[in-house]
Amino acid sequence: MKIVHYPHPTLRYNSATVRQVDAELKKICAEMFDLMYEANGIGLAANQVDLPLRLFVCNVAGKPDEGEEFVFINPVVSRPKGNEEKEEGCLSLPGVYGAVRRPETITFQAYTLDGQEFKQELSGMFARVVQHELDHLNGVLFTDRMTETGKLAVRPELDEFEYDYELRLRNGEAPDDDAVVQRLKEIEAKYC
Ligand code: CO
Repeated sequence: MKIVHYPHPTLRYNSATVRQVDAELKKICAEMFDLMYEANGIGLAANQVDLPLRLFVCNVAGKPDEGEEFVFINPVVSRPKGNEEKEEGCLSLPGVYGAVRRPETITFQAYTLDGQEFKQELSGMFARVVQHELDHLNGVLFTDRMTETGKLAVRPELDEFEYDYELRLRNGEAPDDDAVVQRLKEIEAKYC
């Protein structure tokens, strides 16, 4: 398992509702935490590791021995309040940063790996992370939410990622879109 970078097609895939959790999925989540910490991240969505499932892992402390680890399955955001602009980055777009405006406070509901409901009003960094990760599950990247000026500023970096991916496709190092979608459908059939 590895983190896929923009413009990998799975990052644009609308992830499917998870209907069952098995030992393998629990192992996948543990591995997602490892990859997240390794890359110095605080959140990682399933489609960033090429899985079409509505779940993500996060720990706002960003370190395995600090903060609290959460696996959120089938997350839903409601009751957005206020709005705040903050700089964001993404493990699928390493090195790219930009300001994104988001609601400051939200109500967040999801399920944990053992089927418990999590429902809490969140604000600050925690609220921002879960909104960023939930966006991933809908195929949305933080750069999509930047202002037009912000988008222009990161365009050269995005171009470079697109160029690299194009090269890997041409060299047969990356699967074509049809192969990616077919694999995603198989995983969906197992868990959704
Ligand atoms: Co991200």
